[in-house]
Amino acid sequence: MNVDLENTKVLLLGYTGYVGTTLAKVLLEKKVQIICPIRNKKNLEKKKNIVFVDISQIESFIETLIVKPTTIISCIASRKGGISDSWNVEYYLNKFFLDLSKRVGIKRFILISAICVQKPNLEFQKAKLAFEHLLQNSSLEYEIIRPTAFFKSLSGQIDRVKKGKSFLIFGNGELTSCKPISARDLSEFIIPLVTRSQSENKIHIIGGPGPPISPKRQAELLFELCKKEKKITHISPKLFLVITYALIPLSNFSIKIRDLREFLKIAYYYATESMLFWDEKIGSYSSNKTPEYGNESLEEYYKKILKNDVVYKELKDQKLF
Ligand SMILES: NC(=O)c1ccc[n+]([C@@H]2O[C@H](COP(=O)([O-])OP(=O)(O)OC[C@H]3O[C@@H](n4cnc5c(N)ncnc54)[C@H](OP(=O)(O)O)[C@@H]3O)[C@@H](O)[C@H]2O)c1
Repeated sequence: MNVDLENTKVLLLGYTGYVGTTLAKVLLEKKVQIICPIRNKKNLEKKKNIVFVDISQIESFIETLIVKPTTIISCIASRKGGISDSWNVEYYLNKFFLDLSKRVGIKRFILISAICVQKPNLEFQKAKLAFEHLLQNSSLEYEIIRPTAFFKSLSGQIDRVKKGKSFLIFGNGELTSCKPISARDLSEFIIPLVTRSQSENKIHIIGGPGPPISPKRQAELLFELCKKEKKITHISPKLFLVITYALIPLSNFSIKIRDLREFLKIAYYYATESMLFWDEKIGSYSSNKTPEYGNESLEEYYKKILKNDVVYKELKDQKLF
């Protein structure tokens, strides 16, 4: 039996982020009431059925409510990606809300994690995985979603191509692939997890509609859509490793250098690992075993961005990945 959406109240973490914004839109379309803890309330447009609360006041605010939220959905992520920020956000901030959920009686925690925690080499992945374990061993009902790459992560080079510059590719451009998913398709996937009367308490690996796409194919698609001459610059991913090793002696003395090494490791990871299901038995990624969901395509998304600068603003932070 499903819960009635109009009588559902959700605590949404990460409203100001890429997925959080779209998920809020989809929840509002379904008439769900949303409470969003926010760290900076400036410039937030008022919306019916959303209450924005200063994050530092969230517990006292929930205590005043007669009808409390039943579900928490976490879409938070470290904006900086450095070592301590990753742990502070991906682990400790999620843990704060897990503990708060227990105190105020929220019974279900839906976590947006990431497919890449299957092979955790990076600090943010280790922090995410540590929180996944904490959640799985807690008394709350849970759903852990591990999505593949978002469309925005495959859009960092649109501006270069528009300006007639070359597309930067690691190796031959076919070292990795993914089945990218749109923020709306991911949000639609989440809705039934909110409404079902009992959680499945499981991990959901999820990709967008196939077929998988490589960086080489992304480049071809963008040159076609921008009607620009195809120019590709090949870079060896080993370059990231060489600099990472060269920085080891300095990293003992500076947090900034340690973070810089972490960013280079992140770049190497994304240049060499696919965002697909990792098949432990055969020791490789499997496109066939990566579940597909939704129907929005990357090509249509690129077309929308190229036509419409408003959408393009969402991508202001995207660089290569
Ligand atoms: N990018 C991808 O391709 C990809 C793929 C798979 C999974 N994921 C995962 O999907 C989830 C959502 O990602 P996204 O791209 O939508 O994230 P995003 O756009 O980077 O947004 C991050 C959100 O977290 C909030 N946040 C960060 N640090 C905070 C802090 N110290 N205190 C309070 N709030 C803080 C941000 O608030 P402010 O606006 O105040 O900074 C923002 O609302 C993340 O778990 C991410 O790892 C991403």
